[in-house]
Amino acid sequence: MPDTTRHRKQPAELRSARWFAPDDVRSFGHRSRVKQMGYDDADYRGKPVIGILNTWSDLNQCHTHLRERAQDVKRGVWQAGGFPVEVPVMSLSEMFIKPTTMLYRNLLAMEVEEVIRCHPLDGVVLMGGCDKTVPGLVMGATTANVPAIFLPAGPMLRGHWRGETLASGSDVWKYWAERRAGNLCDGAMDEIESGIARSPGVCMTMGTAATMASVCEALGLLLPGASSIPAVDSAHSRMAAACGRRIVDMVWEDVKPKDILTAEAFDNAIVCDMAIGGSTNAIVHLLAMAGRAGIDLTLDRFDALSRTTPWLANVRPSGQYVMEDFYYAGGLRALLANIADLLHLNSTTVNGQTLGQNIDGAETFNDDVIRPRDNALSESGGTYVLRGNLAPDGCVIKQTAADPKLLTHTGPAVVFKDYNDLAARIDDEALDVTADSVLVLQNAGPVGAPGMPEWGMLPVPKKLLKQGVRDMVRISDARMSGTSYGTCVLHVSPESAAGGPLALVRDGDMIELNAPGRSITWHVDEEERAKRQAAWVAPPPRYERGYGLLHQSHVTQAHLGCDFDFLAHGGENAEPEIH
Ligand code: FES
Repeated sequence: MPDTTRHRKQPAELRSARWFAPDDVRSFGHRSRVKQMGYDDADYRGKPVIGILNTWSDLNQCHTHLRERAQDVKRGVWQAGGFPVEVPVMSLSEMFIKPTTMLYRNLLAMEVEEVIRCHPLDGVVLMGGCDKTVPGLVMGATTANVPAIFLPAGPMLRGHWRGETLASGSDVWKYWAERRAGNLCDGAMDEIESGIARSPGVCMTMGTAATMASVCEALGLLLPGASSIPAVDSAHSRMAAACGRRIVDMVWEDVKPKDILTAEAFDNAIVCDMAIGGSTNAIVHLLAMAGRAGIDLTLDRFDALSRTTPWLANVRPSGQYVMEDFYYAGGLRALLANIADLLHLNSTTVNGQTLGQNIDGAETFNDDVIRPRDNALSESGGTYVLRGNLAPDGCVIKQTAADPKLLTHTGPAVVFKDYNDLAARIDDEALDVTADSVLVLQNAGPVGAPGMPEWGMLPVPKKLLKQGVRDMVRISDARMSGTSYGTCVLHVSPESAAGGPLALVRDGDMIELNAPGRSITWHVDEEERAKRQAAWVAPPPRYERGYGLLHQSHVTQAHLGCDFDFLAHGGENAEPEIH
């Protein structure tokens, strides 16, 4: 039940009252300018001002419905006695932003933090969904620490092709590999291109977008059940209005992100991530989000919880179904109810109830999509944390999306010094590579790429595709798309460009992957390693000015979450002076 003993704010205590209440010349100016916009005192005086932070953009294909949804949020805010204002913030389109949206996640987080701080906002509704928009919005709002609720964009409808379900990303990689192998004609590729993305909304696999929405619901930042509502379902509009109503009460109750984002809440998020077979990107983002909340989260916690959490969501790319099926099967509440004993049920959530209360009584309507504990897809979670002399600070593998036969594998390295080298040589018939080789990509990390792009699912060489090879062991300091699959070891830390051991690997070095043993071993003796280390020269910086320089100078390594070093802690800046 909501905490009725909690102090309810009075209008004079609203943050926005500092802008609008005083009898002075500045406040006169603020009030007159609200009237300039056509509002009267009755519209806003003494009411919580709710910022609807909207990542809508004509260049963000996953967010095309968010302007309409902002109207639904406004409806809810008005109903509850608040004053809604829509404020655009940077939109990170996973498809169109180059070299990678990850380069700009922290820029969005900085913008959100400062937009909240510098404006007369009492609370915010965060509207996003396409991958990095979720952590970017949450990181900024957490540091600003005004009441906040997240409205995810929701997954798009399933794709269709000749009676088959097409899934975002996963089927792009799958059918593109067939195309490269010479198995699909132009006409078939055109049909797939037209049928794979059929509506507004985010990728409908358990990619990064669906994963981040799910873990944010487990963290307590969403209203119950919000994370998997399809973007074009009328329930999504109703959820938007409900967010608008609830944020007004959150302001009066003064429920802030840091009240919700506790160490226990992050445990819940990690358990959720493991049970849904979530995107490896969630690890980097949760580390960064925890840092903003002042929580000391490390890869060791992911490792521990992955060992004790079963994988239950049979959703692509690891499983069989898509997010629409997951929603109709009961959604995240049903999944979390199946692992209730692994969760901190007393954690607070944005609706004022505990997580336990929110999932109480949730039913599963299709137990092939959301598996019961006694029919889990795997006894351990979706992602493993590996360590070894190739990754002293850790790396990760999505074991549920890998070929089980390759999870224990030793093979000779075939090394690409950067992405351009990879693109130039991967399909060269003369490349000395076999199905047993281990493909290694260097200089694709947070500093080296820069921005740690999703290059970690290195393409299988064309000559091997033609032989029927569809998976190989691949290792990099990059990330991979949440929709990707394969035996890909990712996030190697420290990265090559920072002088990590990955930078020293050469063609022919033997590398041993032992995923069940959580290890990655580079079989080169210490003397040779030291010789190569002494000869190593750092690659030249990619940027000499601007945001790129800021990024490469201050981004932290993958095992720390890739936030900027000057932002990656739980502090807050002072409220602005109003002169
Ligand atoms: Fe937007 Fe996948 S491209 S979520």
